[in-house]
Amino acid sequence: MNRIGILTSGGDAPGMNAAIRAIVREARHRNIDCLGIRRGYNGLLNGDVIELKSNDVNGLLTRGGTALFTARCQEFITPEGVEKGYNACKYLGLDGVVAIGGDGTFRGALDLSRMGVNMMCLPATIDNDIGCTNYSIGFDTACNTAIDAIDKLRDTMQSHERCSVVEVMGRDAGHLAVYVGIATGAVATLVPEYSDVCEETLIEKIRAERTRGRTHFLIIVAEGFGKAETVAQNVSAATGIDSRVTILGHIQRGGSPTARDRVTASRMGRHAVLNMLEGKCNRVVGVIDGNMQDFAIEEALKMKRALQRSMYDTAIELASM
Ligand code: F6P
Repeated sequence: MNRIGILTSGGDAPGMNAAIRAIVREARHRNIDCLGIRRGYNGLLNGDVIELKSNDVNGLLTRGGTALFTARCQEFITPEGVEKGYNACKYLGLDGVVAIGGDGTFRGALDLSRMGVNMMCLPATIDNDIGCTNYSIGFDTACNTAIDAIDKLRDTMQSHERCSVVEVMGRDAGHLAVYVGIATGAVATLVPEYSDVCEETLIEKIRAERTRGRTHFLIIVAEGFGKAETVAQNVSAATGIDSRVTILGHIQRGGSPTARDRVTASRMGRHAVLNMLEGKCNRVVGVIDGNMQDFAIEEALKMKRALQRSMYDTAIELASM
């Protein structure tokens, strides 16, 4: 290994920068040159690269977003795009590439690995839905950002005796919603995995809580469940409680990473470089029971990270006063 490339692709996640820093520091320590590939696979296709020395990653540990920029690359989905990517790796003299992102990023890495490029993948997504790891970079920061915002919302909904319906991210997965629901004491948490929640039951619960003296209500809705606006309208229509919708949106993807994200990203980044040095490539790094592990990309893509029923039940059962 003389030279590796690093890219971030797909939705950004706090801690991506910490991973970039760890990869560069570990690689430079072992005299491996690092090229930062900018804007995901687009940068590979367009030769948009910068050299990264140890000093270039100073200060990255604490910064949200990704210094390498990120994008979703349509061209790379085609066989021609993958071939162009392979040729770019050859042209740039890359002995391997570390790709940081989610499932889409790993699919691109699998295609490149099939052409003969040595790939390593790191899981980074605030959705925390990557199957081969207990934890993906960015989730903890996103949870804390959402919790912080909701704690502020609680103050105003308490004053006005309202119902606040908060939409959090999670197109296909309710991990973020359930964590946030538990941590903020939401009266209901609605997630795509259990989309058959009976509206009548939800309304009954709010009525019962009101009878017991609760004057303000918080409902968390994962983006993939359905429209927060519809939930709010239905609650207001059935109970007469004034409701407001807040869509937290991309604010959840920003911010300085928490300790958990900095540490996980640093450990994963280092693991990726050490693996490459051992000639163990085409793997996705994961953290299982606190230990670094890695899985063949193909195998990792088949693994699903289901929402733990006990987590969902905790959100539901502790919601009553
Ligand atoms: O990173 C995953 C995710 O946050 C999803 O939960 C969300 O649906 C999606 O990204 C939004 O992505 P964007 O708006 O950046 O395309």
